[in-house]
Amino acid sequence: MRASRLLSILTTLQARGQVTAPELADACEVSVRTIYRDIDALAAAGVPVYADRGAEGGYRLLDGYRVRLNGLSQPEAEALFMTGLPGPAAALGLEPAMLAAQTKLMAALPANLRPNAGRMQERFHLDAPSWFGEAEQPKHLRAIASAVLRENLIEIRYQSWRAEKRRRVAPLGLVLKGGNWYLAGQVDGSVRTYRVARVLDCSVLDEHFVRPADFDLAAYWQTATIRLEAEMHPNTATVRLSPFGIKLLNALSQPYVKTRTRIEETADAGRPWIVRSNVVASQADIHREWGGVVPELASRQHVRDICGVVERALEQASLRLDEIDGVAVTEGPGLVGSLLVGVSFAKSLAAARKLPLVPVHHLAGHIESLFLQNGPLALPSAVLVVSGGHTSLYLVTAPGAYRLLGRTRDDAAGEAYDKVAKLLGLGYPGGPVVDRLARQGNDRAIDLPLTRITHADRNAPQLPGRLDFSYSGLKTAVLRHVESRKAAGAWPPSDQEVADLCASFQRVVVESLLDRLFAAAGQYGAASAGIAGGVSANSRLRADALATGEKVGLPVYIPSLALSTDNAAMIAAAGLRRFAAGVRAGADLNADASLTL
Ligand code: KG4
Ligand code: ZN
Repeated sequence: MRASRLLSILTTLQARGQVTAPELADACEVSVRTIYRDIDALAAAGVPVYADRGAEGGYRLLDGYRVRLNGLSQPEAEALFMTGLPGPAAALGLEPAMLAAQTKLMAALPANLRPNAGRMQERFHLDAPSWFGEAEQPKHLRAIASAVLRENLIEIRYQSWRAEKRRRVAPLGLVLKGGNWYLAGQVDGSVRTYRVARVLDCSVLDEHFVRPADFDLAAYWQTATIRLEAEMHPNTATVRLSPFGIKLLNALSQPYVKTRTRIEETADAGRPWIVRSNVVASQADIHREWGGVVPELASRQHVRDICGVVERALEQASLRLDEIDGVAVTEGPGLVGSLLVGVSFAKSLAAARKLPLVPVHHLAGHIESLFLQNGPLALPSAVLVVSGGHTSLYLVTAPGAYRLLGRTRDDAAGEAYDKVAKLLGLGYPGGPVVDRLARQGNDRAIDLPLTRITHADRNAPQLPGRLDFSYSGLKTAVLRHVESRKAAGAWPPSDQEVADLCASFQRVVVESLLDRLFAAAGQYGAASAGIAGGVSANSRLRADALATGEKVGLPVYIPSLALSTDNAAMIAAAGLRRFAAGVRAGADLNADASLTL
């Protein structure tokens, strides 16, 4: 600490009479340059230290000078209150006095306490200006500070908001806020705040003033700041930001962001949409009760839900029905009863409101969830759509253009998850439970075979065949395993065995999906790969896909979990794309349970 070093320089000089800078540097274990600066500081603090030049030269104190280390002078005593604030103290011109006071304080301490005394200064630091703010160096600060201390009236010329003014002020106190100095001064009986940097001229008068006995600087400042802040930001601004900018906004501090009243996303060229609401009415509870989807129950529940869902979607988007420009609806594929509810509702709504109606393929919705999530994709992109009803591989050659490369010959991957979960008594839907349990299991514990398709399908000779999937064999293998365990009397299984079975099943599914996806990407020269549909919520599939993408140097797109499983936003996104392309449906639109894409 500097004060303790100054002290040891002083005592060395007193004891030895004459000492050279290198000797002092040795004794204090600092550089010679530091000693030069310390000697300057001692001289500035009023210690009569002299340099004798020449070979025999060195520093010495004025003959007979004995510093009284424990008697503080008035400026030193005043400066003591600024000892923790070296920056502001220097701005007020109190630095030499402060250093001298610290040295004396140090001297007054018993030697064994000295090392500890420096701890505060070494461990706490004040940086007064706020971020992006510059510390001011007001010209008249020192003069005003001395007038404050000595209670002299001052006459100032200053720049107010409107004009240059002259005032005779009784300076009551100084405040440093965010790097700026403010003067609390009394004029004509009332106290006002002046920014010291705006003081153009200041003369300190000989005349003294009487400081009001009840004036409390801290209390005054608190009320003054509340008033000032209200005056400082009278207007609000509307600022347009990119999605990245909105993210950064949360990290931005005053004075750039005062209050954020409302953050509202708007579309831009890369993402010509914003999702204002995405309401999903899940029927999972009903299906769980029946161990799977009962088509008749599903469509009846759709009838009950659909009005409320549309109302909520509008409400969350803060939109009225007459502000809507079009209606998009899933025409297929899927359960015909459920599809019909949506198609009939959408047709009625469009007709009643004279709105254009846009038909959407369910899987196109899943593919568009990737654009919704990521903005423009690197094309062409190999995209896997894996859901409860489908496992299909597409090449997206241009936005809205999908070419089928392969699909499952029997069960869908999600369906396999649901059936295996049912077999193990894990409930509906199976995907999320199996996913969760698999994390605790050994994925090599049970050897489950997977059918590998090597030849074209007679029913779809245009497809290469090698990119097709098959999961019914896997499902049967799990069934066989369960039956053999039952026959061996090893049923019900332990938690670990269930976890092992889930992990082993999941490994085979995920490996087969990624194998075909990356094979297709390579074969068709894709610039990226994507995975969409309910099964893309699977944690292992997501992690392995990203890892493989990284390994082979291919960007991999996955929707957020909310956009993975069936949702309204993806249908709206696909609808928007077709709407822009001029696609419209007439009043004869019908649901198509096996619509192809
Ligand atoms: O796309 P989606 O919501 O509905 C259909 O279009 O079918 O997909 C639902 C399917 C269900 O089979 C469900 O078990 C599966 O997605 N799924 C999962 C996971 N979450 C949902 N499969 C594996 N792991 C998951 N985490
Ligand atoms: Zn789906």
